[in-house]
Amino acid sequence: MNNRRKKAIVTINGTIMFFFSIWLTVTIAVSAFKLMVDRTSDMKKVYIVMLFVILFLSVLWTLADLLRRKIMVEKPTEEILIATEKIARGDFSVRLTPKYIYGKYDEYDEIRENINRMTAELEKSEILKNDFISNISHEIKTPLAIIQSYATLINDPTIDSEERQRYVKILCEATKRLTALINDILKLNKLENQGIIESKEGIRLHDSLAEAVIQFETLIEAKNLEIEADLDEITIVSVKSYLDIIWNNLISNAIKFTENGGKITISLKNDNGRAIIKVSDTGCGISKETGMRIFEKFYQGDTSHAQEGNGLGLALVKKIIDIIGGEISVESEIGRGSTFTVILKDLT
Ligand SMILES: Nc1ncnc2c1ncn2[C@@H]1O[C@H](COP(=O)(O)OP(=O)(O)OP(=O)(O)O)[C@@H](O)[C@H]1O
Ligand SMILES: [Mg+2]
Repeated sequence: MNNRRKKAIVTINGTIMFFFSIWLTVTIAVSAFKLMVDRTSDMKKVYIVMLFVILFLSVLWTLADLLRRKIMVEKPTEEILIATEKIARGDFSVRLTPKYIYGKYDEYDEIRENINRMTAELEKSEILKNDFISNISHEIKTPLAIIQSYATLINDPTIDSEERQRYVKILCEATKRLTALINDILKLNKLENQGIIESKEGIRLHDSLAEAVIQFETLIEAKNLEIEADLDEITIVSVKSYLDIIWNNLISNAIKFTENGGKITISLKNDNGRAIIKVSDTGCGISKETGMRIFEKFYQGDTSHAQEGNGLGLALVKKIIDIIGGEISVESEIGRGSTFTVILKDLT
């Protein structure tokens, strides 16, 4: 039985009880009146007895109602008050069991279940918040430690210029990583709190993908990667800066996780009013376990941090795709490569 129906039954039962108490009082009073009139003609006596009968019945119903209120209203209200006080003090472990008093599911049971849902949600976001803070601190600490130690080393007057150049390069890398981390955190935070904030426009997807690849030209050449692109001409109504973030992350991952001399393939197809974008590589691939977590914030398949990055790229991509309305999936085989597929709607 659904909750609404159960609640309706409880309300009807309350009304029936109220009706029944009035009906019983009147019936008893009328019967008592008739009995008295049959036995005596002393009307004064009849009135006094009637007064007491009605008084007795009123007291009886009042006590019954007090007991009912104690069990059905005051006790659950007190239980819920204590629970909400605990939650207000930050104790999110509070859980309440629906009581089904007299076998009925009432509003209090519904409040109890809502409180359980609320505390479960709060507990979950508390864990996420704590994880997020410890992840950020960890990710910030690493480049900061590098900056600190190399800044000290660079100050040494005895080092030669070649060594100094090397230290400067390391310092630049560390500051770049710190800046990228802070930018990604800010972007994610903005998206999570405000949703779409940029305006939509008509975007030629094939151009935007080609521009994204060109940005990585130097890296692609440095790793001697082969690039193949098969792009249909498709225009979409979306947010340009968001799409750029998606392509940049997928292409930079494909480059980063592919060995020198590998191949990256980018395809864009129109599939019945949907744009299907695939970014494939012949890189290291992703295990099943890793594949299930790559869209989480700060998750990196290789915990040794051998590859640079903060594990925020795909979390950002997923958040954007959820906001603009689309899908992303990954297929991969260890040692053979990965294919990321993005599906977008709103084609023009
Ligand atoms: N093309 C790929 N091939 C192999 N593994 C990948 C690929 N793309 C992503 N991954 C795995 O998914 C993880 C998460 O990717 P994500 O882009 O979120 O983080 P990142 O690239 O490590 O860091 P960031 O993007 O913040 O610089 C990566 O660390 C890697 O293990
Ligand atoms: Mg990345």
